[in-house]
Amino acid sequence: MNGTLSGCLDLARDIVRGVQENPQLLEQNEFLVCPPYPYLVPVKAELTQAVALGAQDCAMKDNGAHTGDVSAEMLKDISCSYVILGHSERRHDHQEQDGYIAAKAAQAHRAGLKTIICVGETEEQREQGIQEEVVGEQIRDSLPSHVTAENTVIAYEPVWAIGTGKTATPEDIATMHSFIRGQLEDKEIRILYGGSMKPGNAAEILAIPNVNGGLIGGASLKADDFLGIAKVS
Ligand code: PGA
Repeated sequence: MNGTLSGCLDLARDIVRGVQENPQLLEQNEFLVCPPYPYLVPVKAELTQAVALGAQDCAMKDNGAHTGDVSAEMLKDISCSYVILGHSERRHDHQEQDGYIAAKAAQAHRAGLKTIICVGETEEQREQGIQEEVVGEQIRDSLPSHVTAENTVIAYEPVWAIGTGKTATPEDIATMHSFIRGQLEDKEIRILYGGSMKPGNAAEILAIPNVNGGLIGGASLKADDFLGIAKVS
């Protein structure tokens, strides 16, 4: 829930320009931007094929009388190719539970969207040493059946690292990503890391085995930082 219309459009233009000026970035990266709902359509008009469009959530239901919701079908209709689901802010602010997230993901897949499903433990859970139990359960219960590398990306985001400037250590990231990889049947599913990723730490994080990309929050609000992460990947 960041930005204004003009700010989002400037950001989209700067990202597109940055990719056009550095076409080698496309050899290493796929780009996706997920602006807030009101800015999806105008931002889409600024994007080229090199930068895909996604939303930050979708409804669990088909189109119909569900005031205030936005369906996966509507997102597909406006050319979104991805939707983020189960972000820790959705889990926390809206009490979204694993089963509900799985139902949304199934709905998104039916509409032809790819899903980025977020998992991650809280600081308290890590202090208790139960992070794998927590993330294992989230993986088991927030993924619908039939997830494949074609329709699903996982994002591991330790809740305590989101927007805090704290990142997990490379060892902790490596351990968790390898754990998640072991939980997934389709071994080609990409696993992103998210949580205070920035140009200064991205090279180290992206070099960790089983880290296949980043889900960037704060640093995506500045084109130079967002592109800076792509440049060191
Ligand atoms: P951050 O956010 O990069 O600002 O930590 C990550 C996220 O919100 O997914």
